[in-house]
Order: sequence, then C-alpha cells, then structure tokens
Amino acid sequence: MGSFGRRAALGGVFLVALLCAIYLVRGGADAKPLPGQPLRVLAKAKGLEIGTAIRGDEARKNRAYRQTIAAQFSTVTPENEMKWEAVEPERGRFEFGPADAIVDRAREAKQKIRGHTLVWHFQLPGWARELGPRDLEAAMREHIRRVVGHFKDDVSVWDVVNEPISDRGGLRPSVFMRRLGEGFIALAFRLAHEADPDARLYLNEIGADGINAKSNRLYEVVAALKRDGVPIDGVGFQVHSNGDGLPGDLVANLQRFAALGLDVAITEADVGLKLPASAQDLERQAQIYDQIVQGCLTVQCKSLTFWGFTDSRSWIPETQPGMGAATLLDDKLAPKPAFRAVQRALGG
Ligand code: XIL
Repeated sequence: MGSFGRRAALGGVFLVALLCAIYLVRGGADAKPLPGQPLRVLAKAKGLEIGTAIRGDEARKNRAYRQTIAAQFSTVTPENEMKWEAVEPERGRFEFGPADAIVDRAREAKQKIRGHTLVWHFQLPGWARELGPRDLEAAMREHIRRVVGHFKDDVSVWDVVNEPISDRGGLRPSVFMRRLGEGFIALAFRLAHEADPDARLYLNEIGADGINAKSNRLYEVVAALKRDGVPIDGVGFQVHSNGDGLPGDLVANLQRFAALGLDVAITEADVGLKLPASAQDLERQAQIYDQIVQGCLTVQCKSLTFWGFTDSRSWIPETQPGMGAATLLDDKLAPKPAFRAVQRALGG
C-alpha cells in the first residue's frame, strides 16, 4: 500500500471510531416510535396522570429508554434513587446526585415526580436499623425534613410511609413500629407536611388491592389518620399482579378508600408472567392491564404508574426467578399486546 492508501485507511479507522464514540455518548440509537397516540396524551384526555418507575442508571446511558419515558409518560417515580439507603447512606450525609439527575430530566419532559419513599422498612441503611427509639425518631425527623425540603420545588407527591401493614392484617413489625409504635405513621405525615405544605402525601401499600385482611387494616389505619386530622391526602395501591389476574373486588376496595375523602392512585402496576411467556400468556396479560386501567378510571384515581415499562429493566426477573415479561414493552422497547390494551383502555 502506498502512503496515500495508508493515510486513507487510517482516516477510515478514525472516522469509524469517531462515529462509535458519538453513538455511545448519545446513548445508542433513537427509540423506534411506538404506534398510535402516546399514553400521556390519551391519559390527559381522561384527566389521568400516567407514569412509570424509572432507573437513573439506565436513563443516563440509554437514549431510547429516555426518549420513551419522555414521549409516553406524564409522571415518573424514581425506582430506587430516593429511598433512604440511597439518599442518606450514612447518618447525616445526604446524597442527592442520582435523584437530582432524574428530577432534571423530568422537568425537561414536563413530567410530575412521585417521590418514593420516605419511611420504609426495606432499603433502609443498616445504621438506621440499629438506633434506639429516641435516636430513630430524631433520625426520621431529620431525614424527612432534609429530603422533602431538598425536592420541595420538584416533587409534588410523596409516598410518605410504604408498606406499614403485614399480610395478615397487623401492623408490620418494622424497626419503626418496634421502636416508635404505630404513632410513627402519623408523625411521618406531620413532618412531611411541615417540610412541604404543598405536597400531596400518600400512604403506599402492597397486596392491599382487593378486600382482604391487609386492606381492611389499612382502611382502619387511614380512617383513623383522617379522623385525627393527620395530613394524609391519598392511598397508593401498588398492584403488583401476575398472570392469575386481579382481585375481583379491586374497584370496590379502592372505592371505599375514596369514600373517606382520600385520593387513590395505582402506583406500581405490573403483571409478572412465568417464563417463557407464550402468545396466549401475553394476551391474558393484556386483559389484566386493560382491567387495571379500567379500574383506575372507574374509581377516578389520580394517577396510574407502571413499575417499569420495558421487560429489560423490570424488577420481576431480578427478584422472582423464573418470572418476568411483566411490562408493556418487550426488552427491545417494542410494544406488546399489553401496550395496545392500555392505549385502547385510555380511548386510543
Ligand atoms: C423495588 C425495585 O423495583 C427494585 O429495583 C429494588 O431492588 C427493590 O425495590 N414495592 C415498592 C418498591 O414500594 O419500592 C419496590 O421496588 C417494589 C415493591
């Protein structure tokens, strides 16, 4: 090869490397547009906010993931980045960077942010578990004051207390319950309200979607909070479902909470399937998603959030081996029957 040929080859290699670098910095390819009207447009016409849990690490590196969130959803919930262990890994040392990055993107996409979550027994740092009653109360006061204060301008809804009831209908024996007694719930709401009087404050629960021992106790707890003038605005129902379907009394259940004068929201909907999922499973899943949307609309819920929107980044396969395929889009961000079902249920 002559010197010209060598230079041309080198130039070619350089160009390819440059294009690869640009591709990587941009976070890969653009998202393929999804068919039909975006969910956020359809939901808006129904007076509903529609959201998804999002992962900051994926949003940072994956352009198509980011674009899909911005295009389809009007609210976002940081899946892990606002939890106690994430924002206060050591007592008094607050780390807001990853959550702030999500907030900045949401602001750009004109999305509301659901803050998740202030007081929860899980994803709680080890140091907090070891505190005695007085110290734990002091830590909880400081945690809520600092976290709610930090996000005051951007987070309009908080899951103040997450999962305080046990499946059999008792108060869950969390470290908060054991050290502070049931009063920790009311205290958490009062502190959150003090830190941001404009935020809508929710109690969020898992497995309380139908009428059962857990939701009965939840009902008693929130009715008592209301009666006592505790600043609680709403109840979030997670609705982590599977191919067996929803409880038949989901609507009746949510209605009784709404009748207390509380907002109701579906906060973490997904439908896990046994893997590999057949075409029939996916159709059945679509029906369940349809029922989730219909149920939410029937009770005039304030918002409906899916716990992730792509099978590639869903907590189900990560935490329940053998299960997965739980969301609206497959792992290549292509629409599944469930996506079309949600569009249709929203009038699309
Ligand atoms: C889950 C996340 O999706 C996982 O990534 C994490 O490892 C554990 O927590 N109820 C809740 C959510 O309120 O915060 C949980 O999220 C799922 C169950």
